[in-house]
Amino acid sequence: MSDDWHPHSWKKFQALQQPEWPDQQNLDETCSNLSRYPPLVFAGEVRALKNHLAKVHRGDAFLLQGGDCAESFNDFTANSIRDKLKVLLQMAVILTHGISKPVIKVGRIAGQYAKPRSSPLETQNGVSLPSFRGESVNDPSFTLEARLPDPLRLERAYFQSASTLNLLRAFTHGGFANLERVHTWNQDFVANSPQGQRYAHLADQLTDAMKFMGAIGVNTQNSPILHEVEYFTSHEALILEYETALTRRDSLTGDFYNCSAHMIWIGERTRQPDGAHVEFLRGVKNPLGVKIGPKASADEILQLCDRLNPLNEPGRLTFIGRFGHDQIAKSLPPLLRTIKQEGRAVIWSCDPMHGNTYTAPTGHKTRALDHILMELRQFIDILQAEGIWPGGAHFELTGDNVTECVGGSHVVLEEDLNERYETTCDPRLNAAQSLDVAFLVAEEIRSLQQR
Ligand code: PEP
Ligand code: CO
Repeated sequence: MSDDWHPHSWKKFQALQQPEWPDQQNLDETCSNLSRYPPLVFAGEVRALKNHLAKVHRGDAFLLQGGDCAESFNDFTANSIRDKLKVLLQMAVILTHGISKPVIKVGRIAGQYAKPRSSPLETQNGVSLPSFRGESVNDPSFTLEARLPDPLRLERAYFQSASTLNLLRAFTHGGFANLERVHTWNQDFVANSPQGQRYAHLADQLTDAMKFMGAIGVNTQNSPILHEVEYFTSHEALILEYETALTRRDSLTGDFYNCSAHMIWIGERTRQPDGAHVEFLRGVKNPLGVKIGPKASADEILQLCDRLNPLNEPGRLTFIGRFGHDQIAKSLPPLLRTIKQEGRAVIWSCDPMHGNTYTAPTGHKTRALDHILMELRQFIDILQAEGIWPGGAHFELTGDNVTECVGGSHVVLEEDLNERYETTCDPRLNAAQSLDVAFLVAEEIRSLQQR
């Protein structure tokens, strides 16, 4: 890190996608409060994640990242947090079993409250209002009052993140994630679907394996790994005032960590190598993600490596490709080759959601499971052909039985979208569709391993 970095140095650079806060003093007061509140995560945990990601970089582990497109202030219940955890644990079991490698579990949760938008205004029936920018900024209802940015929402996002994280820590260390309970993570509405039954079959096999291990003396009492799970949090570091307020110097190492989440990423719209977001990210020691879309050039991604990972540390930087099923074959290979030729330590992960969004005739923003699966399959094949480990996958998903994405072995049709379309932003996979994608990734990687 060069000496001219400090938590506010980004202010000298252009920061895109920042809200127009109506009252600067109000914002400053809120951020000053936030900067005194306790950190949400600790530097030691962040370092543990970075070590795990170094294994991902070596091809010895897989990164599974998933959760809401945007967390909501209204949908804030123990059940919804538990069900999102359940589905990620199920996907991790499917993947670990399928590819025989550890799966690093990272939620898009406990901080995912801010959204970049393609247009500053949204128009409905001839009326234009400021766009919804995530609940830490404004409210999704379509009224002028609701859409006015309010800094107090940043504080509410902080407290909701703290409360969400508290429950996640209790679930992952208090017995809920015990591998003996692998059957109970299958939810009722999934259990009768083909993928739910397939999961139940896998859970039976695991239960048998646990009995065998118990017989030779490995059990949940003497092996914490069987009843506790390491689970990390992540979100898009979009609102730089908020991220700065949660950035702290670690007393052990003297380094700066963004203590709002273990991993943070920047999006396709704010990853300019000379922009404020890259400036902010380069100075914190957290593992970083950058979304990479079809417009990214080889030169740009090398500049991102120079700025964000100058020491070329494995596990520091993950490129999260989000090309679209019809673009990935053309756009990804030249980028992979550049990074490989230049010897840059980068984990490649696939976000098969954001390049595959379209509007259905019903007016709903949706994604087809077929396109999602097509992008994932191509991603894995292309990386394999280049001799690079397909390090991870990134999904927008929920544990609920929503109808937001179409397709899946428990089919949702375009005409069903209106039934339970609950997202405040992009369409998410429901629990059954999430199992579908996990089975596909597991099979695809396994078949490559067997070749
Ligand atoms: C997102 O992850 O919700 C998002 C906005 O992604 P991207 O920056 O890739 O468009
Ligand atoms: Co999204």
